[in-house]
Parts: sequence; C-alpha cells; structure tokens
Amino acid sequence: MNHFARDPDSGALHCEGVPLAAIAEAVGTPTYVYSRATLERHVRVFREAFGELDHRMCYAVKACSNLAILNLFAELGSGFDIVSEGELRRVLAAGGTPESIVFSGVGKTPDELRAALAVGASGIGCFNVESLAELEMLDQVARELGRVARVSLRVNPNVDPKTHPYIATGLAHTKFGIAWDDALPAFERAHALPHLAVVGVDCHIGSQLEQATPFVEALDRVLDLVAELERRAITIRHVDIGGGLGITYREETPPSPTEYASAVATRFRERGAAHLGIITEPGRVIVGNAGCLLSRVVLVKDNGPTRFVVLDAGMNDLIRPALYEAWHAIEPVAAPRPEREVVDVVGPVCESGDFFAQSRELPALAADELVVLRSAGAYAMVMASNYNSRRRPAEVLVDGDRFDVIRARESFEDLWRGEVIPSRR
Ligand code: LLP
Repeated sequence: MNHFARDPDSGALHCEGVPLAAIAEAVGTPTYVYSRATLERHVRVFREAFGELDHRMCYAVKACSNLAILNLFAELGSGFDIVSEGELRRVLAAGGTPESIVFSGVGKTPDELRAALAVGASGIGCFNVESLAELEMLDQVARELGRVARVSLRVNPNVDPKTHPYIATGLAHTKFGIAWDDALPAFERAHALPHLAVVGVDCHIGSQLEQATPFVEALDRVLDLVAELERRAITIRHVDIGGGLGITYREETPPSPTEYASAVATRFRERGAAHLGIITEPGRVIVGNAGCLLSRVVLVKDNGPTRFVVLDAGMNDLIRPALYEAWHAIEPVAAPRPEREVVDVVGPVCESGDFFAQSRELPALAADELVVLRSAGAYAMVMASNYNSRRRPAEVLVDGDRFDVIRARESFEDLWRGEVIPSRR
C-alpha cells in the first residue's frame, strides 16, 4: 500500500490521511513531507526479510537524518550507520544507544574517533576501518582513553555494482575500503594492535543497486576472507554487507528486500556461515519512497521552443537531478488535468543545472499550483544547501490524519548565523 495516494473523491494527493494542500497551507513551500506509516513499514519489512538469521539493521543516517525520524527508528529497535561526529551526536540526541552504532567513512579524524570511543560504557558498537592509517590512529586514540575499540575492516571486493559512477564504491579504483590484496595483512595488523578487537568484516559496494548479483558476488569474496582469517586464528563475529539496495524512481525493478535478503541468507547458509552475525546499512530503501518534496509553481514561461515551469524549489533544495541526472516523478497535487504538455521543470536558482525534469510530458501546470517531487525521502533534505541565500525547506512528518513540523523552515537570520563583520582597525 502506498501512503502517498489520491483521494478517490477529489482526486487530490494525500499523505496518509492528510491532504498535501493542507500542509502547504499551514507550513508553506518548499517542504519535505514524510509518511510515518511508510517509514515503519519499510523498517519492518526489511528486518523481517532476514527471518531467523542473526541480523542487525544499522540505518544509514546520511540518507535522511532528521531527529524525529532517527527517534522513530531507534524506537523500532534499529541500529545506525554513521559517517561523522555530527551524525553520532544526532543519533544520541534522538535516543539511539552507543552500542547500536557502526561508524563508516574513509576520513574519520582523531577527534571523531575519540568522540565515538568515549561515549557510553565502551564506545560505539563497531568502527568500520577503511585503511591502515586509520587502524594505527584508532589504536592510539583507544590507548589514550584506556579502552579497546571493536573494529571491522572495510574491504574493497572489486565488484562492479552497475550503478551511477558517483555512487559506485566497490571497484578497485575508488577511494573506499582496503584494497583486496592488502586485506589479510591489514587484519593481521589489527589483530596485533593491543587496543583493537577485530570483530567483523565490512563491505559496501555502492548505492541504488538494481540487481542482487553484485551483492552476492561481494559476499562470496568476503566469506572467502572470513574463512582465511579463521585459519589464521582471527575470529570474525559478524559480516557487514553495507547498504545499497535500490528503489523504484521510475521503472527500475530492484530486488525487493525479501528477494535481496533471501539471496544473501542463502549464500550465508550454503557457505556454512549462518552462525555469523549480519549487519546491514540500508538508507535509500528505507526512506527514499517515504518522502516527497512539496513545492509551488511560481510561473510558467515560454522561451523559444521550450515551456519552463518554474518552481519555488530549486537545486539547493533537491540536488539529485542536477548532480546525478536523477529522475523524480513530478505530479500536480490537485487532480491532474487531462491536457498534457512537454515542459522543463526548473527552479529559480541562477544555474542552467537547476532543473528537475527536461522535455517531460506532464499534465498541464499553471502558476500557483502545488506539485510534488516524489521519491525524495533519501539524499534530498540532507543534501540541501543555502546556495543563492535560500532558506532550506521545512520538514513535516505525517502520522495518520495529523502532522508535525519536524524541522522549521530556516529564518533569514539563520542564513548569516555565525557570520561577523570585523570592526575596522
Ligand atoms: N553504507 C555506506 C558505507 C555508505 O557509503 C552508504 C551510502 C550506505 C551504507 C547507504 O547506502 P544506500 O542503502 O542508501 O544505498 N547521494 C547519493 C547516494 C550516496 C550514497 C552514499 N553512501 C544519491 O542521492 O543517490
């Protein structure tokens, strides 16, 4: 069931029981709107897909990091995958526990490592270490704090995820993970360092994957590594298979969470590895289709051969089309008119890259009308900026027939908070 659907009588688009027009009226536009029921369903389906296996879902905070959403996930028993001290502090502020956190990222600073290890009774659950340099740095930090850091080494299995080059991470030429040939010596080194406890192997090969095969190929290589490590008396407790499961923006047909989990689970069993814990780091598949961007048409203008529909949302609010040529469905909030037109849907920002759709056939749109950009729950608000001194959007969480503003729209003063005009000397 989709929680963004049209009212059968009026044809107007609702999120759960709330008309999107009512949100625009109360909060203004542009505004991100999330469905709590969809978020809950996605978490439940994803976790249930792993059945009896010892699986922990660590939601990738970077996909959508609003405190209300993190708090919801913490209440549902989710863990968290973080990539910065800011995300660490968000998770803790939202009620997540330190033990439920894994820390990924290729450039964690000593201060970030310290913050993550100092928290709680024994630091966060696990550090996903991506280099020899980071191993040494973490051992040093742990020594200073008198603690032992649990580590998993992120290896680069050199598997082609067949996704957009900007979001492919599992190929040998990328900056991510420890190169395959260096993995064993890196584990030996980690094992020898006194303030580290090796507990896992980690890989994440990319995002928006549309097939299960690359996941299984990467897992196979990782399980080879686990077997070799056991021969060397380095005991692995969990395998972290990262995130990356794709969603349908247009007509992609990625595996369902159930298909994905069952491909993974089958391989674990076939390889005699079902005793290992499994950690996943899903982001997009949990939040992507649980959110949309609500915006208003400012005006429509014909320039030469092209009809431009100019929205009050711009590339600063949702950068995915400009950055990855990503496709987001665009729909009128009111019942769509039968007439259709081929248009470019653009924002007000002073860049030609500020577009949401080019040469797209849509129901005719007029000035002042509300539209939504669908599938905007993941990598959307979190990538918003203040470019052109535009205030970032508000965020709203719908729950049944009520809604809460979970992030107020920025004020103009917020735009220059922290800026200083130095006094003349
Ligand atoms: N784990 C690690 C280590 C990651 O780097 C990522 C995403 C994830 C998990 C979550 O992946 P997901 O399940 O969401 O695919 N801004 C881009 C996507 C960047 C993904 C970065 N890493 C976009 O808008 O498509």
